[in-house]
Amino acid sequence: MGWWWLRLVVVAAAAVLTTIPQQANSQPQINLLNRGCSQYNASNINDFFNNLNATFSDLRSQLSGGGGRRFATAQQSRSSDPVYAMAQCRNYMSERDCLTCYDAAVSLIRNCSAANGARVIYDGCFLRYESNTFYDQTTLPGNVQICGNRTAAQPSAFNAEAQTFLRDLQLATPRINGYFAATTRQISGGGGNSTIYGVAQCAETISRTGCEDCLTVAFGNIQGCLPNADGRAIDAACFLRYSDVPFFADNQTIDITPFLGGGGIVKVWNSSSRNAIIGGVVGGAGLVLILLALYLWYHFSRKPKAARRGSILGATELQGPNIYSYKDLKSATKNFSEENKLGEGGFGDVYKATLENGDVVAVKKLDISYSRAKADFESEVRLISNVHHRNLVRLLGCCSKGSELLLVYEYMANGSLDRFVYGEKRGVLSWKQRFDIIYGTARGLAYLHEQYHVCIIHRDIKPGNILLNDDFQVKIADFGLARLLPENQSHVSTKFAGTLGYTAPEYAIHGHLSEKVDTYSFGVVILEIISGRRSNDMNVESDTEYLLEEAWKLYESGMHQKIADETLDSNDYKPEDVKKMVEIALVCTQSPASSRPTMSEILVLLSSDHTIVPKAPNRGNSFNPGSKFFVDTTTTSASTGSSNATASFTQFTGR
Ligand SMILES: *[C@@H]1O[C@H](CO)[C@@H](O)[C@H](O)[C@H]1NC(C)=O
Ligand SMILES: *[C@@H]1O[C@H](CO)[C@@H](O)[C@H](O)[C@H]1NC(C)=O
Ligand SMILES: *[C@@H]1O[C@H](CO)[C@@H](O)[C@H](O)[C@H]1NC(C)=O
Ligand SMILES: *[C@@H]1O[C@H](CO)[C@@H](O)[C@H](O)[C@H]1NC(C)=O
Ligand SMILES: *[C@@H]1O[C@H](CO)[C@@H](O)[C@H](O)[C@H]1NC(C)=O
Ligand SMILES: *[C@@H]1O[C@H](CO)[C@@H](O)[C@H](O)[C@H]1NC(C)=O
Repeated sequence: MGWWWLRLVVVAAAAVLTTIPQQANSQPQINLLNRGCSQYNASNINDFFNNLNATFSDLRSQLSGGGGRRFATAQQSRSSDPVYAMAQCRNYMSERDCLTCYDAAVSLIRNCSAANGARVIYDGCFLRYESNTFYDQTTLPGNVQICGNRTAAQPSAFNAEAQTFLRDLQLATPRINGYFAATTRQISGGGGNSTIYGVAQCAETISRTGCEDCLTVAFGNIQGCLPNADGRAIDAACFLRYSDVPFFADNQTIDITPFLGGGGIVKVWNSSSRNAIIGGVVGGAGLVLILLALYLWYHFSRKPKAARRGSILGATELQGPNIYSYKDLKSATKNFSEENKLGEGGFGDVYKATLENGDVVAVKKLDISYSRAKADFESEVRLISNVHHRNLVRLLGCCSKGSELLLVYEYMANGSLDRFVYGEKRGVLSWKQRFDIIYGTARGLAYLHEQYHVCIIHRDIKPGNILLNDDFQVKIADFGLARLLPENQSHVSTKFAGTLGYTAPEYAIHGHLSEKVDTYSFGVVILEIISGRRSNDMNVESDTEYLLEEAWKLYESGMHQKIADETLDSNDYKPEDVKKMVEIALVCTQSPASSRPTMSEILVLLSSDHTIVPKAPNRGNSFNPGSKFFVDTTTTSASTGSSNATASFTQFTGR
């Protein structure tokens, strides 16, 4: 136990040496990222403003005085209108810049007048207050990415490097005392050189695990900005930002590599993973005074929290889905008329609805009568409605009446991808658009599998479930719906014929479900997008072969470019582009499931110039929906690829 204290002091002292006040580089960075006011007003206005003023001046005095502090909390909890507040500057800011930023935040937040909660987030600092304590909150609905509008100079090199750079930042920062890191990385390749600058920061009142959780969500969000040259992700307790131009001084940079593997500091934090330890550090002129304030927050894990009032990043957004009235939806869809019908999904029909306020939405009428407990059901709907990602269709709310259940989604003007791949709009999409659609789909899936706080397996990835907005941006629909079904009821088996060509063999035959089931379907979808063919249509010209079978054959005979859709302009793409897509598709459809890459690995593959060589164990009977389909595929292991090829794939994706 004694050593534990000593180590913490040493770590804190080291932190002081690297964060002694920096004066120059005067940049308060008052670029507004987000603000909001609670929709509830304080009850006793006079009490409230007394508390608010006292809290704000407390925060200011903590941030000033040469102590190098960039984080503070303060509260006035007596009286009917308590105020809890938190302020934070990025640690690279000088004290003067920090205070300038803080003052700007205070004056802006006062525009919320008597609202009992509010927040302002700038590039340089952050201020929030609420009527109850929120210091242990980590990630909240409304967490978003804010992307710059410039594309990086060498998009694919930048994209690939930025992915790993941000991932490293995400991993290292929770292990660093003070939860802050500013670092840079050189980008080579693509014939040029440039640097990427990044910063990650967590609130000091959360646990290391909380910081990890928050940055995991932030990482997922910020990926949506790549390959743009700069982006930020904001959340209740953390901040992540990258750019190809510097936004902090060189001497603020730290080397994060020691925090990527493990080490002494990590042990200090590990010894009390349920507690948050806060080191407050004050330096004086000439000598360093260390004041350590330790606070321990005991998390009563899994205990339901008191209802949260609003969320930090969208004060009007309450937890849980909006509840729509059945009557309104009925009239908005003209009594669910045929003319308003947009399509038939795996779970029910979808209608276009024009709400009274003029908003156009899509309403899905579920054709399952749910047998789960209502509370259980609502928690699943809440889970799905809290998933926010630019490549996932947003669930706006729901409505239940008797055994009927309606889900309300954002409306997608261009409908589903199947129309563009082999339907009436075939030939409209350019190669670049097809690539973007594949990339966006991968990004949405990576978020569902790896970055949301629970892993959501879609189970029904196919062009009909991939929607396009008016900008042809991809949004995946129907994710999470499988979770609404009773455990033993698989929608894939009820609608099996429709999705046959996309279903991974281990799932279709043995019911083995993992996120690699989606990877498999994604691989099939890639082939459909580049070929303009249905996976389960036979090609009349070439020996009545299914698309996947044909792709393997063409790949093995080096004629992969033959798979490209003939409606594509051949000046639009290079044969290598087709080869790479075919390779990625084949890697995704390998068996066993463990040999398929994860979606984040696929993102790296898609954005790199490297090619990969798939190996094909038992491909002969793994996908053909004909007579061979029901053969057990888990035992054969004949490989037509070389082991070298697998090694290079493994090496490249860092696994
Ligand atoms: C960092 O560099 C700036 C000039 O860019 C300088 O004014 C400042 O004193 C330096 N800070 C430290 C801690 O060396
Ligand atoms: C809160 O107070 C503001 C001004 O003081 C007022 O405009 C607003 O309507 C109030 N909101 C509620 C929900 O009472
Ligand atoms: C709180 O501070 C604001 C701005 O400085 C001031 O206008 C207001 O009168 C103060 N209110 C109270 C109750 O002290
Ligand atoms: C804040 O409020 C003042 C006066 O109510 C108004 O003039 C100003 O535009 C507001 N600022 C913002 C950013 O809304
Ligand atoms: C990009 O963003 C900047 C700053 O936000 C803005 O001034 C500029 O007009 C934008 N450019 C485009 C092409 O949207
Ligand atoms: C690489 O970076 C250096 C230093 O920043 C610069 O002088 C040089 O011109 C760069 N080279 C290329 C090819 O961009």
